[in-house]
Order: sequence, then C-alpha cells, then structure tokens
Amino acid sequence: MNSSFARRLAGSATSLIRTAKVHIPLRAFSLSVTHQQQQPQLQNDQTQHNHTTTTHFGFKTVPEEVKESLVRNVFSSVASNYDMMNDAMSLGIHRLWKDHFMRNMAPTPGAKLLDVAGGTGDIAHRFLNYQDNINCDSTSTVHMVDINPDMLREGERRFSDSKWKQEGRIDFTVGNAENLDFIKDNSFDAYSIAFGIRNCTHPDRVVREAFRVLKPGGRFMCLEFSRVTNPLLAVAYDLHSFYVIPKLGEIIANDRNSYEYLVESIRKFPTQDDFAQIIREAGFTTIGSGYENLTFGTVAIHSGFKF
Ligand SMILES: C[S@@+](CC[C@H](N)C(=O)[O-])C[C@H]1O[C@@H](n2cnc3c(N)ncnc32)[C@H](O)[C@@H]1O
Repeated sequence: MNSSFARRLAGSATSLIRTAKVHIPLRAFSLSVTHQQQQPQLQNDQTQHNHTTTTHFGFKTVPEEVKESLVRNVFSSVASNYDMMNDAMSLGIHRLWKDHFMRNMAPTPGAKLLDVAGGTGDIAHRFLNYQDNINCDSTSTVHMVDINPDMLREGERRFSDSKWKQEGRIDFTVGNAENLDFIKDNSFDAYSIAFGIRNCTHPDRVVREAFRVLKPGGRFMCLEFSRVTNPLLAVAYDLHSFYVIPKLGEIIANDRNSYEYLVESIRKFPTQDDFAQIIREAGFTTIGSGYENLTFGTVAIHSGFKF
C-alpha cells in the first residue's frame, strides 16, 4: 500500500469516526508518522522540565519518580479482574500468544526461569506445564517477581494447591524489574517478561538487569504489545483499543481509567526495531531482526541470548 493511499485511508477513517462520535485520540491515526519520527519517544518523554525529569504515564507526562506508584495503583485496581479482562479484551487470544511464547522458549529440562512482572502467573504456569508434559522433567523451577503485591497474591493463590508449590518449584518475590538486587549475577537459564516492560519507567534498565542475572548462554524473552504494521488493520485496532477496551473496563471492572492507561501505554512503547536495539545495547545477541510479530504486530516476541 503506498503512502498517499494510506493517508487517504487514514482521512476516511478519521471522518468515519467523527461521524460516529467515537472519541479517539486522533493522533493514533496519523499514518504519515514514520518509525524514525516515533523512534526517540522514550528519550523525548524523559526530558528535564524545571529540573524535574519527566516520563510518560499513558499519554500524560508525569515526574519520573511518581510513575512507579501510578502503575502500582493501576495494577492494584485491576488485580481481581485481571484474568477475566484479559480474556474479554483479547477474545482469549492472549492465551494463544502465551502458548506460542512458551513453545518458542522451548526450555530445556532442569531450566531455572525468572518470570518478571509475572502477575497472576500465566507464563510460570505454562513453563511448569511444558517441563512436566513435554520434557517429562520435574526438577525445573520458576521464580516469579512482580512489583505489585496484589497481582502477585493472585498468582500465589493460583499455585497454592499445586504440586509445583508442594515440590518447591515455584516461589514469589515482590520486586522492581529495574533493580533485582536480591538476585545474584549469572543465576538463571531463562528470563521472561510478558506484558510488563511497557509499564516500567526505564525499559533499558530492565533489560540490563536481565542481562546481569542470566547465566552465560541464557535467554531473555519478552512478550509485549507492539505496532500493527498494516494501516487498515491499525485503524480497526485503534477503534478496538480506544473505544472497546475502556468500555469493557467500565462495564466488567468498573474501572475505565486503568484500561485507558493500559491502551495508551502500548502506544508509548518503542517500536519493534527500537526495542530490539535496546536489547542489543544491553549486551544481548539477537538472531535476525530479534523479534517475531504475532497477529500482524499486535504483539511481538523479542528474544536475545547472553553469550
Ligand atoms: C499486564 S500485567 C502482566 C502479567 C503477566 N505477565 C501476564 O502476562 O499476564 C503487568 C504486570 O507488570 C507488573 N509491573 C509493572 N511494573 C513493574 C516493575 N517495574 N517491576 C516488576 N513488575 C512490574 C504489574 O504489577 C503487573 O503485574
């Protein structure tokens, strides 16, 4: 599709939306914005204003030091409805993305996984299932870390009666992905972070910490919302994101604001290529582009090896 057609399409979508009185931040439709123009977002948002370093919280600009507590409030607010909302927002597709993520990780028997921003434990659960059922292995372990005690409590509850808990194969720590000082250098075989890194104030610090705690030969894997590459689908995706998801948040969880933030935070996260570059700058070796797009780039799996 050439760029003038894409612009016309964006124009018609914009008028369609105006007519339908759907309130969507219209900059989401500016298809003429190139990757290069979007690229420095992370740096631009982390600028100095009146000696205060600011960053983004969704589409708002906030002092850097308050973002962590704002994010914590969002996840405390959504924790009890989190799993149900995930199914409702993605029509259950997040389960397929996570299954694919685990098949792609293909952990070896006995592997030690660090699952950061682990939330209610979807990745940890898939990892232990994979080890039991594919590798016939009952020695591998997973350590879940999350900054939010309410989310982690939901995760602990899910595993409380499991044989994995009884066998001591899963444990939980409240902690910040940007500073895992309670974890030794070179101590894990694999590191996962799913739908968590875009909420962190400094994604580059998160990736550097992952590099530190992984053993040589270890693998970093990230599953995160990303940029839809097809302009026509991007219009449909924006409608879903800015209209349907906040409405679902309002109806199901009585919490429109948190779901508006979640949608906005996706748009502020670096593009696939920019994030792959952050991973390489932290010291990881990537294969090819370093990422795989799923569902037309709605989400991407990034991966890097510590050699
Ligand atoms: C959208 S949930 C994802 C949960 C789970 N990984 C999944 O895929 O369902 C994002 C999680 O990231 C956590 N989080 C946000 N900022 C964090 C940080 N700086 N360090 C660790 N966890 C963080 C939140 O508390 C929340 O549980």
